[in-house]
Amino acid sequence: MFQSLFLINIIFIKRANQKRDMAKDEEGNGDEEKGGEAKITDIPGIGPGIAAKLEAAGVYDLMGLAVMSPAALSDLAGVGEAVARKAIQAARGMMKLGFMDGMEFAKKREDVGFIGTGSTNLNNLLGGKGVETRSLTEAYGAFGSGKTQLGLTLAVNVQLPVEQGGLNGKAVFIDTEGTFRPQRIRQIAEGMGANADKVLRNILVARAFNSDHQILLIDKINELIKDGEPIKLVIIDSLTAHFRAEFTGRGELADRQHKLNKYLHSLMKMGEQHNVAIYVTNQVMANPAMMFGDPTTAVGGNIVAHASTYRMYLRRGKQGSRVAKLIDSPNLPDNETVFFLTEKGIKDEEE
Ligand code: GTP
Ligand code: MG
Repeated sequence: MFQSLFLINIIFIKRANQKRDMAKDEEGNGDEEKGGEAKITDIPGIGPGIAAKLEAAGVYDLMGLAVMSPAALSDLAGVGEAVARKAIQAARGMMKLGFMDGMEFAKKREDVGFIGTGSTNLNNLLGGKGVETRSLTEAYGAFGSGKTQLGLTLAVNVQLPVEQGGLNGKAVFIDTEGTFRPQRIRQIAEGMGANADKVLRNILVARAFNSDHQILLIDKINELIKDGEPIKLVIIDSLTAHFRAEFTGRGELADRQHKLNKYLHSLMKMGEQHNVAIYVTNQVMANPAMMFGDPTTAVGGNIVAHASTYRMYLRRGKQGSRVAKLIDSPNLPDNETVFFLTEKGIKDEEE
């Protein structure tokens, strides 16, 4: 009896905290550190006022603070350099930031997993084995370029055993545009001889009705993973559509980018914490300033570009093919390759 009351109490407190955090998020002052993790305001000398100033400058969490210079923090927060230095040191201490030894680093890389795309060409473009866990892979391109089809194919492939290019895991599909098609999943699953019902049951689909809802769904996914769901892939199709539709005025661009940045940040954190692959799709817009080449750029600009570990530009190619180009990858050449959208999903050749 006593124990259950205690439990209920904990749940109640948790709920109250969640509500408070949600309310804060709506004001745009929220902090995505939840569930007992250290916050920026836990640092001595950093109160809510300074935290708000930092956030306005794009520093949301301990990591952001830990990598600042004392002079920059002193400027931003209006505190002396000695206080700033202490705060940064405290943040570094709490983050255990410093050097990971080679063994630790290798171990962390060891459990990185890969999900095959169905096309050897596309896998090679991405470094050999497809889409990577602990990373954010973005595909941007015009309508019909294959962004959603790649997402659907990955949602099936992640369920395969490791030796067949999967991770024995489930997929989450966040659908912002109502483009998820169970029938299409069936086709792809049957194309590889899998049980379509089983495959469909391993894809958790949520329709996100607006950007706030889309953001809140991250908490839900984190909860599912903590509850033991073997989720290995999270697909956001589309990452930017709601943001783009909701923040239309010129004066709203900064707000949009701020919110999008925070969202991307929590996506990356989810990928890193739970060893999950994140695949997002993104639209293009005409870039009238560009005179040569393909006059399209991705929505979300630098903010999305910086967050993406792998960024691919998809477009239609010759004879019904699709062309994927890797953009600004830190460790891979900016190559181009060809693939096809087929009945059975993404393939190297037309069927
Ligand atoms: P938007 O979401 O509109 O921006 O486009 P997208 O890039 O997500 O396009 P999507 O991935 O939905 O690609 C649509 C294309 O996939 C179609 O034009 C077809 O070429 C192809 N496609 C879709 N379903 C099938 C299918 O069952 N068989 C074949 N062969 N191709 C298909
Ligand atoms: Mg689409």
